[in-house]
Amino acid sequence: MIDFSLRAAHPSTTKTDVVAVAVHEGQKLSWAAQNIDDASKGALSAALKAASFSGRVGAVLPLFNLSGVAAARVLVYGVGSGSALAAKDARASGRALAAAAVEQELGELTVYPLSEGALEAMRQMVLGVSDATYRFDETKGTAAKPKPSLKRVRFGLPDSVEAGVASATLKTAVATIHGMEFTKYLGNLPPNHCTPTRLGDEAKKLAKSHGLKVTVMDRKAIEKLGMGSFLSVTNGSDEPPRFIVFEYSGGKKGEAPTVFVGKGVTFDTGGISLKPAADMDHMKWDMSGAGTVFGVMKAVAELKPKQNVVGLVVACENMPSGRATKPGDVFKSMSGQTIEVLNTDAEGRLILCDALTYAERFKPRAVIDIATLTGACVVALGSHNAGLFSSNDALADAILASGKKTNDRFWRMPLEEDYQEALNSNFADMANVAGRDGGAITAACFLWRFAKKYDWAHLDIAGVAYKGSGKEKGATGRPVAALVDYVMSL
Ligand code: BES
Ligand code: MN
Ligand code: ZN
Repeated sequence: MIDFSLRAAHPSTTKTDVVAVAVHEGQKLSWAAQNIDDASKGALSAALKAASFSGRVGAVLPLFNLSGVAAARVLVYGVGSGSALAAKDARASGRALAAAAVEQELGELTVYPLSEGALEAMRQMVLGVSDATYRFDETKGTAAKPKPSLKRVRFGLPDSVEAGVASATLKTAVATIHGMEFTKYLGNLPPNHCTPTRLGDEAKKLAKSHGLKVTVMDRKAIEKLGMGSFLSVTNGSDEPPRFIVFEYSGGKKGEAPTVFVGKGVTFDTGGISLKPAADMDHMKWDMSGAGTVFGVMKAVAELKPKQNVVGLVVACENMPSGRATKPGDVFKSMSGQTIEVLNTDAEGRLILCDALTYAERFKPRAVIDIATLTGACVVALGSHNAGLFSSNDALADAILASGKKTNDRFWRMPLEEDYQEALNSNFADMANVAGRDGGAITAACFLWRFAKKYDWAHLDIAGVAYKGSGKEKGATGRPVAALVDYVMSL
């Protein structure tokens, strides 16, 4: 784990191996680059000229042994033409600097952000450093790669930034990447490792190390709660299900908590409504909503806000077998409402609905569920925005704002009664699927029927939770950053 800290300004005199300073397009120097240039009597600007340094975001130029500069190595990084970096560009800069540090086998780095928007830039650069140094090699055998060299990253902020605010921002950013990296870890674990049982064990481990209360329920306890809809999804699987309840109590006793609910399908074959073979391995990430809840709880436990936060995780596999649920089967949910399962691949809503009913007992201020719920949401929004559905405008606006601020974005989708009739069934209170049209919306409408007793938001993260191909194939840790910001903003 990388150690992040703050350091007083003055890039040229800082006693460290490596300092990183910003330069704009047109070789316009930032305050920190100017400081180095002055100390080295123009050596920095001469080197920029000789190298035709572009100043584009992502560009990094190493300079060595500048006279008058304490650090032996200066990394010049490009910040484009604006006076402040957009969140996305700040994250890319952090990524580029960390990648250069790893490439050059550097152990430490002191980064000087632009003075305008320095705090937000620092926050995003921490995320970028995490992007570039995160590795999953737990299940690599002989091909395991050495860990990145980078061990310490310091940020030098301009004197105008108040120290208390700076350290609070850094702390939030660091807790956020600890949460995100945990979310990625659980998501990237293979589905024969990351079973519901393993999630239950990880929950106990997290609770113990981070001072959270946790209850891990097995099939018997889930039966006792009357979660017939959740259990219908487990019928075909030999892996026992788990229902996990995390409780963080930073607020007053009895104060209404924020409740997060995560879909934890550790593998989704579709069940009897079997999915096609192509890319079925992606369905190991069908527990990403649960992974998000783990990550948020971890970050919250580190940040200790004066809030009460509950995390619910519904975990099971969706498998075909002689005992599996068949299309046409009818089950009774914990709420008493009955459901005709017309498609066993629409299993996420079946497990979430019972957790939404369970959430009522906390008399929550808000309930937010997070789920890789529909392919339709991926078709609608692609991989940059997650779908946001909410029964409350203020709640929706707060989540949208946190998404914007952290660049972990959501796009609001409709939640309207008009869509409900598509879920009508002749044999139960509702069917679990409607037609193809508006598939992400009708899925949200199904959940809405179980979320009437509190303010509620549903995040469909099917498009954003993981990258399915290429060198970056793997979990993204989204939307932990937005949700941590949301909790901290309450
Ligand atoms: N886990 C899937 C949704 C999904 C699809 C996540 C693609 C990530 C990428 C979910 O359980 C599912 O299978 N949904 C069905 C619903 C349909 C049967 C109404 C879908 O989207 O096809
Ligand atoms: Mn499915
Ligand atoms: Zn699924």
